Amino acid sequence: MCGIVAYVGPKDAAPILLEGLQRLEYRGYDSAGLAVVNAKSLRTRKVKGRVADLAAAVPAKFKGTIGIGHTRWATHGAPSDVNAHPHLDQEQRIAVVHNGIIENADELRRRLEGEGVKFESETDSEVLSHLIGRMVKDTDSLREAVLRALKSVVGTYGIAVVDAQRPGEIVVARNGSPIVLGLGEKEMFAASDVAALIRYTRQVVHLEDGELAVIKADGFTTFTSDARETAKEPFTVDWDAGHYDNGGYEHYLLKEISEQPETVARTLRGRMDDRFHIAHLGGLNMDARETRSFRRVKIIGCGSAYYSGQMGAQLIEELARIPADAEPASEFRYRSPVVEPDTLYVAISQSGETYDTLAAVQELKRKGGRVLGIVNTVGSAIARETDGGIYLHAGPEVSVASTKAFTSTAVAFALLALHLGRVRDLSPADGRRICEGLRRLPEQIEEILTLEDRIKELAKKYADAPGMMFVGRVRGYPVAREGAQKLKEISYVHAEAYPASELKHGPLALISPELPTVAIVPDDELLDKNLTTLGEIRARHGRILMVGHRTSEAADDCIVVPKNEVELDPILLTIPLQLFAYHAAVALDRDVDRPRNLAKSVTVE
Ligand code: G6P
Repeated sequence: MCGIVAYVGPKDAAPILLEGLQRLEYRGYDSAGLAVVNAKSLRTRKVKGRVADLAAAVPAKFKGTIGIGHTRWATHGAPSDVNAHPHLDQEQRIAVVHNGIIENADELRRRLEGEGVKFESETDSEVLSHLIGRMVKDTDSLREAVLRALKSVVGTYGIAVVDAQRPGEIVVARNGSPIVLGLGEKEMFAASDVAALIRYTRQVVHLEDGELAVIKADGFTTFTSDARETAKEPFTVDWDAGHYDNGGYEHYLLKEISEQPETVARTLRGRMDDRFHIAHLGGLNMDARETRSFRRVKIIGCGSAYYSGQMGAQLIEELARIPADAEPASEFRYRSPVVEPDTLYVAISQSGETYDTLAAVQELKRKGGRVLGIVNTVGSAIARETDGGIYLHAGPEVSVASTKAFTSTAVAFALLALHLGRVRDLSPADGRRICEGLRRLPEQIEEILTLEDRIKELAKKYADAPGMMFVGRVRGYPVAREGAQKLKEISYVHAEAYPASELKHGPLALISPELPTVAIVPDDELLDKNLTTLGEIRARHGRILMVGHRTSEAADDCIVVPKNEVELDPILLTIPLQLFAYHAAVALDRDVDRPRNLAKSVTVE
């Protein structure tokens, strides 16, 4: 998704902006650009393609100690040099970079064109530079001009604006699209993601929706859209630049898959009590009485976060015996959900910025719902909007496809389920069994990672299939869904996930040697039923790759993973499927970390 970087200080802005844009590459984009101010005039460069192409297009002498940069993910108008940001006003005085969508752009454009404004691009964003350009002439204050311009704008935005006539300040604003300020020594930064700032500073300030800021080399002020000043406390990000390196791996995805023994251990650290076999989750901000009062749990998230929520719902039902289910946040928010006081809502997000999830949380809050967040990014919008929650501590996830955040979320749900269960009917013995099982996970993940060569061979063997079916029953179904999601998003092989029991009600018609099946077959009480399903597939000449705790003659190939407690096995069964998707994508020569058409963090509707 689009990315923003801004700098004001004593140094040349261009190299800092380019470095920041590079750090945002992982979010997905199709073009990039930057603008700096020098001697009261703007210099811009914009290119379709990668940040490296932009860097090549920026001349060595591109002087200016204040500037803004952008990576664009096309929504209005195809990826091209002109549609790339920054956009300028007609006098070439104002430059704007914008994330989000201006919903009334057509109407504003017609109005401005009626007043004689000539547009350069097809973007919705360009209306902003012209609106601000007109206002700045009347007010001679950039802050005032931005405030006034935004009054006529409907939609979502994170913006950064420079004025060539006032080369000491940048105005940024947030409404639905993240903006974070970075506080340096006599220099200030702003960006849409801390990843862009982390090389320069770890002191940050997050803007809220409807908030604006003026940043100067020696400080910043924040204020609301009705010009009231707000007080902000900076906070220190505990990730550093090293967390964003690929650590010598060929792809971030493989690095992140390989980190899981450590990231799962971090999610668990300090959160289990060996005396009472309970979970310590201080961030929930709920006492035992309140924790007992919930009669349902509703989980929302998008993409892999939603599938991890399905895994979480299963864990909560099993361990806490509270009815729980998961739903895509993107659906939930649009169907005017019935919000009940005795339901606990849980929003999941790696980035903490996914717009659909954030909007669902806001809708829940409006209706008085109690919402927890399971979030990886500390201080992100969803973390701030929710009433409490669990941080994953998985470190930044860079590759578009989620892996370590998925497993850490499932682990966080196991802790939440243990917590909810132990204030109800889960016995100390079962609590202990789960705690011990959780403790074994990192080592068992390590063991699964040693299977990589074998999984790579299998991925190569199956990667040329036109499509694949993923099946699992009950605990295995979310595993199958996430496995299919991983395969389709990074290898572009069509993959469909079905509950194994549903196969005979339709999709069995698809089974043939051309459509291999990945079957999730844990050693649990449903083992026999799953083996029967394999027989049904085989009878239709379907090829089968079985992922479970034993080998079976009913399958063509088997991946055997270590066994944990039945409730926790799904977490482990997910890992070989990540490796399978990764190696299938590599075998097919895909852009593993930046799959086509996708973005890491979808901050638009
Ligand atoms: C995008 C990404 C997915 C991710 C989803 C939710 O669609 O491509 O990989 O699972 O957003 O992201 P979140 O940051 O909210 O977990």
